Amino acid sequence: MTDTTIAIACDHGGYDLKMQLIPMLEARGLAVLDLGTNSSKSVDYPEFGYAMASTIRDGKTDYGVLCCGSGIGISIAANRYPEVRAALIHDALGAKLCRQHNNANVICFGGRTTGPDVALDCLEIFLDTEFEGGRHERRVEKLSNPT
Ligand code: RB5
Repeated sequence: MTDTTIAIACDHGGYDLKMQLIPMLEARGLAVLDLGTNSSKSVDYPEFGYAMASTIRDGKTDYGVLCCGSGIGISIAANRYPEVRAALIHDALGAKLCRQHNNANVICFGGRTTGPDVALDCLEIFLDTEFEGGRHERRVEKLSNPT
């Protein structure tokens, strides 16, 4: 990825994992735009998925990381914006393919389903892998233009 800023957001179920991912992003020299939530107090995940999506739509960054309990709700929320391709990831191959084939711009994790070591490994791969383009370009274009 070329952007030097990355956004990150979570709900209460993803808060602990988010706090474990931020130091790695900073260690890579990225400016981290933390969109909350800022504690384990119960909140509604759609608000944080939408905060991420509007940040990307408005051009404040090209990439983001989202965490909720399962990773499911917050990824559904973010994917309601056509500018977002949010991928819920559980393993290294998924982290690679979501960049190579889908040009995913947001990686999502479940704080209750994925441990910090796996999430950190997947996040490194996500950040280091480029979109392959070619035949995937046309398919990714179609994602932003549902019929
Ligand atoms: C919150 O309890 C939980 O529902 C949320 O973090 C997430 O897993 C939703 O998909």
